[in-house]
Amino acid sequence: MTDANGIWQAIEAEPRDTLTALFDADAGRLGRFSGEVAGLYLDWSKTHLTPALVDRYIAFAAARDFAGRRDALYGGAVVNVTEGRAATHVAERGEGSPDDVAAARTFHGRMRALIDAIEAEAFGPVAHILHIGIGGSALGPDLLVDALGRDSGRYEVAVVSNVDGAALEEATRRFDPAATLVVVASKTFTTTETLLNAASALGWMTEHGVDDPYGRVIALTAAPDKAVEWGVDETRVLPFAESVGGRYSLWSSIGFPAALALGWSAFEELLEGAAEMDRHFRFSEPAANLPLLAAFADHYYGHVRGAETRAVFAYDERLRLLPSYLQQLEMESNGKGVTLAGDPLSGHSAPITWGGVGTDAQHAVFQLLHQGTHLVPVEFVASVEVDHGFDDAHHRQLLGNCFAQGAALMTGRTAEDPARSYPGDRPSATILLDQVEPRTLGALIAFYEARVFAGAVLLDINPFDQFGVELGKEMAKAVEKGGEFDPSTTELLRRAFG
Ligand code: F6P
Repeated sequence: MTDANGIWQAIEAEPRDTLTALFDADAGRLGRFSGEVAGLYLDWSKTHLTPALVDRYIAFAAARDFAGRRDALYGGAVVNVTEGRAATHVAERGEGSPDDVAAARTFHGRMRALIDAIEAEAFGPVAHILHIGIGGSALGPDLLVDALGRDSGRYEVAVVSNVDGAALEEATRRFDPAATLVVVASKTFTTTETLLNAASALGWMTEHGVDDPYGRVIALTAAPDKAVEWGVDETRVLPFAESVGGRYSLWSSIGFPAALALGWSAFEELLEGAAEMDRHFRFSEPAANLPLLAAFADHYYGHVRGAETRAVFAYDERLRLLPSYLQQLEMESNGKGVTLAGDPLSGHSAPITWGGVGTDAQHAVFQLLHQGTHLVPVEFVASVEVDHGFDDAHHRQLLGNCFAQGAALMTGRTAEDPARSYPGDRPSATILLDQVEPRTLGALIAFYEARVFAGAVLLDINPFDQFGVELGKEMAKAVEKGGEFDPSTTELLRRAFG
């Protein structure tokens, strides 16, 4: 392995041509930095990647043992070193070690059997699914059901995450308690918000005359004993492996409400789409490996060009929850302060992920993207397929706007009046789905997971732990118990609770 520091200096010294100059100088640029995988077209040509920069990054990744660490991930080795365990979400889609894949299939078999039982009305007629969970136990199912389940007509799913009772109230107001199943999703089965929401949901059922509310609860967890202790019958506990991280868990039983609402075959297509992306990530050569190229660009912007954030805009209403899903995936994974060896990071960790929905965001935040002084690499995610019955003009305008933004960010425009000038040379990437369907959504999410993993290798950090959230949880418990705090916090508590 060559020394990463030496390669790093060469990366920093690479020429900084503008995007338009890069296109002018290289007729093959678009083909070089774009590709198709599993119904996705990914275009990174409007970033400042160059063949020379990519070569240097390939050497930098090799110096960080990228291939070895990727093999370790897919081989089921202990890659989450601080917690001493593997990260086996890839096995959920058949791409891990044989033992991990077999274990995932057994758990999937239990999910499927319970779905069959629900469909066969073992719980009587079911119309509503109240899914209670938070973070990785909510964002994935919410994204899947919102994106893919709009017309499924099978079950109405509400995902409740916030401990604010108003969130639960909103969902329960629409639901018939006698026709509702409560799904409690928690990897640890200790998350206080989830357990309080679940208890309140059972109270709501009791108040409305449901005889045996516990008999209508399904638990999704890596801690089945805790779920049973809480009161869920073992036959309705759908376990998943402890080595599947919360923010990587939608492929496991955490995806249950989506599999129920969309149908089992749709869930399998989701897994297969993700597996196609896994195989691309595992076996493509580095210069054509799209998640790896995206990670190079992320690292380059964060560490050479000083970008502190990255913005993702979904130009498709069905993907409106994608930015918040990615916020957890990227920021909880790669928002770390120390390397694998425990040394402080020398530069920034992952950029702050933010974003929204196009075209709405154009009329709200794009001013800063076009003329503000921050460098913000932008990502557009759109679908070629139209998903509504209105005139084609809607889709033409939607995608036309999306593509125009990328072009405008890149080319800019000089006017006599500086206030009306656009500096241009602002990077963007575009992901175009053939359709928003289970296979492409699976591939899309797996693309982001792979990119996060590659980004973690470049940063030399562990993307699979999240100790940063623990202190706040401890303090929240101390608040409940009436502990001693600083004057500011004490006054806030006094004003709120007397
Ligand atoms: O507090 C952060 C976190 O642990 C996330 O990593 C996780 O997705 C979420 O809370 C919910 O945790 P659980 O699934 O154990 O309830």
